[in-house]
Amino acid sequence: MFSRYKKTSAGPAPNAKKPDAPVELPKTKPVEEAPKTSLRKPLPKAVAQSTMADKERKRKDRLAEIKLDLHRSLLDNLNLAALDQATESDLRAEISSIASEVLEERSIVLNREDRSTLTQELYDEVRGLGPLETLLQDETVNDILVNGPQQIFVERDGKLQLTDVTFKDEKHLLRIIDKIVSAVGRRVDESNPYVDARLLDGSRFNAMVPPVAVDGSLVSIRKFKKDKLGIDDLVNFGAFNEEMAAYLQAAVSTRLNVIVSGGTGSGKTTTLNALSSFIDNAERILTIEDTAELQLQQIHVGRMESRPPNVEGKGEVSPRDCLKNALRMRPDRIIVGETRGEEVIDMLQAMNTGHDGSMTTIHANNPRDGISRLENMVAMAGIEMPLKAVRSQIASAVNLMVQASRLQDGSRRMTSITEITGMEGDVISMQEVFRFQRTGLTPENKIIGHFTGTGVRSNFSERFRLWGYDLPPAIYEPVAAE
Ligand SMILES: Nc1ncnc2c1ncn2[C@@H]1O[C@H](COP(=O)(O)OP(=O)(O)OP(=O)(O)O)[C@@H](O)[C@H]1O
Ligand SMILES: [Mg+2]
Repeated sequence: MFSRYKKTSAGPAPNAKKPDAPVELPKTKPVEEAPKTSLRKPLPKAVAQSTMADKERKRKDRLAEIKLDLHRSLLDNLNLAALDQATESDLRAEISSIASEVLEERSIVLNREDRSTLTQELYDEVRGLGPLETLLQDETVNDILVNGPQQIFVERDGKLQLTDVTFKDEKHLLRIIDKIVSAVGRRVDESNPYVDARLLDGSRFNAMVPPVAVDGSLVSIRKFKKDKLGIDDLVNFGAFNEEMAAYLQAAVSTRLNVIVSGGTGSGKTTTLNALSSFIDNAERILTIEDTAELQLQQIHVGRMESRPPNVEGKGEVSPRDCLKNALRMRPDRIIVGETRGEEVIDMLQAMNTGHDGSMTTIHANNPRDGISRLENMVAMAGIEMPLKAVRSQIASAVNLMVQASRLQDGSRRMTSITEITGMEGDVISMQEVFRFQRTGLTPENKIIGHFTGTGVRSNFSERFRLWGYDLPPAIYEPVAAE
């Protein structure tokens, strides 16, 4: 226990001098200690520190109380059945007038700004998703992550930030979760503690409720971007460079089979969507996803969404079911949002049997890991095949691995483009053609680096040339750091 070292006013410390003993003065001034230098960097301040000033917090608490009160009055006074038909302006006017009445009744005076925030929040509560609504409307927010009612983080520019948005309590949070999942005919409770859903605006939604979620419900929302990032946007953002874009155009147009690999939230789906923009308009494309996120610009696109089993455990349509069916639907290309299970078998088969130019994503931290992930998925699908056979199946199916990464400074970059060139003995041989070369870190912890060719010419150069994509050999040359 450290308490014996603590200065206390109540009684002397156990080995302190007796009060009547003469007080010894130090003979010399203590030598000032030189500041200790440490090899370690100072620890970052706790992230979960709310910046809200006390006054602001009190004001917010008061508003929350009033809001709760008003919400009850609203529910008592509004004709809920008529609510669905009410236009936005009617409902706003109604809410505003009930609010005024209640405020007047209780002699509460609010300034104009507070009053308009209040009616907006009440409107969101009645029509929308309560406190989440403002974050959903905020264009700069990519992800919304709720850890129980009092803590909501958002991701902006690749960085997580704590917001001052909160739910009143767990019951409030559960009510909003329930509103979302019941709208898509699902249920979440103690016996079904987690659920996936899609919000009306297309955002991907996942929730897990107590007791599995220990400190209150956990919610993750990947916001749907209406304007998906295109190739030019990604080049402008520094996700990859012009040379890589030209290479990728050649690869997709000449129907190489591509796997985008990356960690969670690293930009896999965004990359897949951007790559698909190189597909010719004349082709028939079928897409298969758990939650439809891809937005292909082509004319001829058939979209499929797999479905988990319902509450009675029936009605499941797995990605594999969709994929099997897709093969009977005369596709030119198949795009699978994410391969994570037994559908890998059909994906590899499709890539091997004439559906060239198919694409998918997998969770892996580098291209080599990506290949191991594929091997594992095949093994877990219960296919009894010698490893060498599995590998040669993969080597002939997959032509290209594109690695997406979210780096420590929050930036998302294509860190590697790697070609699969065949088998050498029992091993799949690969060659990296482009990579992101890190060279340092700025004092603000921004990563310094550049994209470069590796000096290895593409194995598909001849194919590119024959298809009319004659890329200059110079694009593969290594680039020196500036
Ligand atoms: N290069 C980029 N620059 C800036 N933002 C990006 C970039 N790439 C992706 N994003 C944004 O990052 C978020 C995550 O991207 P995306 O959904 O593509 O990731 P993911 O790897 O598919 O995630 P998950 O593993 O959850 O499926 C999205 O909001 C997207 O708009
Ligand atoms: Mg994704």
